Amino acid sequence: MYEQVSHALLNDILDAFSHRFRREDLRHFYTRLGANFYAIHSLFGHLYGHRQDFKEQTVRLTERLARAYIERPAALKALDMAREADHNWFLDQQWVGMALYADGFAGNLPGLIERLPYLQELGVNMVHVMPILRCPQGASDGGYAVSDFRDIDPRMGTVEDVRALGARMREHGMLLTLDVVVNHTSDEHEWACRARAGERAFQDFYYTFPNRDVPDMFEANLPEIFPETAPGNFTWNAEMQRWVMTVFNDYQWDLNYANPAVFIEMLDIILFWINQGADIIRLDAVAFLWKKIGTTSQNEHEAHLILQLMKDCCQVVAPGPLFIAEAIVSPSEIIKYFGEDAVIAKECEIAYNATFMALLWDAVATKNAKLLNQGIQSLPHKLDRATWLNYVRCHDDIGLGFDDADIRASDYDPYHHRRFLIDWFTGVYEGSPGRGRPFGVNPKTGDARISGALASLAGLEAALEDGDQQRIDQAVDLILTLHAMILSFGGIPLIWYGDELGTLNDDSFLEDVNKACDNRWVHRPRIDWQRAERRHQPGTVEQRIFDGLRQLIEVRKHTPAFADFNNRELIEVANPHLFVFLRTHPTLQGGSVVVAANFDANPQFLDLDVLNQRGLFRQGQIEDLITGESPALFNNRMVIPPFQFYWLTNQRARAQL
Ligand code: GLC
Repeated sequence: MYEQVSHALLNDILDAFSHRFRREDLRHFYTRLGANFYAIHSLFGHLYGHRQDFKEQTVRLTERLARAYIERPAALKALDMAREADHNWFLDQQWVGMALYADGFAGNLPGLIERLPYLQELGVNMVHVMPILRCPQGASDGGYAVSDFRDIDPRMGTVEDVRALGARMREHGMLLTLDVVVNHTSDEHEWACRARAGERAFQDFYYTFPNRDVPDMFEANLPEIFPETAPGNFTWNAEMQRWVMTVFNDYQWDLNYANPAVFIEMLDIILFWINQGADIIRLDAVAFLWKKIGTTSQNEHEAHLILQLMKDCCQVVAPGPLFIAEAIVSPSEIIKYFGEDAVIAKECEIAYNATFMALLWDAVATKNAKLLNQGIQSLPHKLDRATWLNYVRCHDDIGLGFDDADIRASDYDPYHHRRFLIDWFTGVYEGSPGRGRPFGVNPKTGDARISGALASLAGLEAALEDGDQQRIDQAVDLILTLHAMILSFGGIPLIWYGDELGTLNDDSFLEDVNKACDNRWVHRPRIDWQRAERRHQPGTVEQRIFDGLRQLIEVRKHTPAFADFNNRELIEVANPHLFVFLRTHPTLQGGSVVVAANFDANPQFLDLDVLNQRGLFRQGQIEDLITGESPALFNNRMVIPPFQFYWLTNQRARAQL
């Protein structure tokens, strides 16, 4: 958009640039800067326009963008142009992700490069490498307490290794996702050290207060994220003689985005990593970016302005890379991280679908899909050119963040239902095979979350202990069904490393003083590569899960109806144990797929009349995409075995694909 004030400033900036960057070819940069400058100027103005140095800061910001563009390698610039021309590329069904700790998976970054063929064997072509930036040896929160944003933890490798990893992945058509922890730094970061040493400019990078007045005002409304290990949201720093805001752990200092210098530095860091070859940046804890007294300081409007500004700035330098919003918040809030009042994503193109994840686990515990069906209906409609990251497990705990209204609509009492889920997954509930651990227990509020490996939560660990073959088989089926859901829902499926082999809880973290008090480490495995070899041995649990998943991935990639064009429709069926939805083919009538899963331990039937009424499967044989066979039918009722699913299509339509 054209607007005089911003354009006049842009003219001045471009004049200065034409001298300073005389020898550079900035044509594409200028076109994109022209397109986005009004938005950048007004967003920056909303956040910092009241400051006397606003104009100076805007010039600084624009200069950083120009420098990042100049530093961007030619190969990455070419990729940007290709992605600009094929802007829906990331909505395609071909993408399948895995998140992993480089050390747990392969020792370090060079090890990870060597293990890429294993990921390709499975069909994974997007890898989220968990945080690898330099962080303290002990207080690191699994890499989320960064002490140097431009260097790699020497135990993992070097920046050069990251570039090599990115280059190798690009050769194989794989995407690299890296974290930028935008909300906080380690207390050992240089900025924190200088703040402690008394430098006012760096104290302004954080929220620091001489007494409890302001902290107490905040505390009245702030929840606690780690109530057991880090109660409260402020930490007294004796050296500085000030309170510091530390919403997560006491060694993670929250950055103060009311200071434009913080915004510019953090943006520059994002640009640095996309210039090293990251295709996707995972922006950690984005809900927390703006703090306001009298609120929970989550999902504040300004947090969205910051993200929009980051996106607009990034697009000027490099329109190819995408952002993932890590905001584990309610459905009505999460949807805003794609951007409000927009058609296409204008904040983050991808967001964690924590709602779907938690609802899937609810179906596992209750053996029915009541809340799952209810909760999915409450998930607001998503923008075009924005997509979900669908997952069953990740490095974090499982939070039961369903809407109370949805729980009630499913005929449960919110408090008792959540209590039941915790008891179920931690094995306290009579007869439950869950082997999870309670995490983040808050006696003040009664809240708790759950840690644990997928296989241990889904009953495989207990079944193996008991040597109960039938339950082992059922657990394997359930693990595959859960993956089938994230692979067909619409969005990028993200597998947690180790789950492809049925990896169980690992208690070895208890021997490490730095990890012992954080039981999320129980599900952050060190892959046993000897055990992984068993994936080639027919009949082993590892082989059944790995091959099952491999096949699901392959079928997904050949099923255009699984691409994400907001082409999903929930199908209400009378049987509460079933979760059924339709994925429509973008162009081919009849190329649609019905996904039907049974979460019960008994076979359940799906009444095909419901589907026939919609014109589905009226003619031609029904076929399951995985087995290529027709499921058992009796009088227009289809039987779905316990804990299993079907991806149903019309045989005739399939022949045309
Ligand atoms: C994010 C990460 C989590 C971490 C927290 C604080 O939520 O996923 O692992 O503890 O941020 O950095």
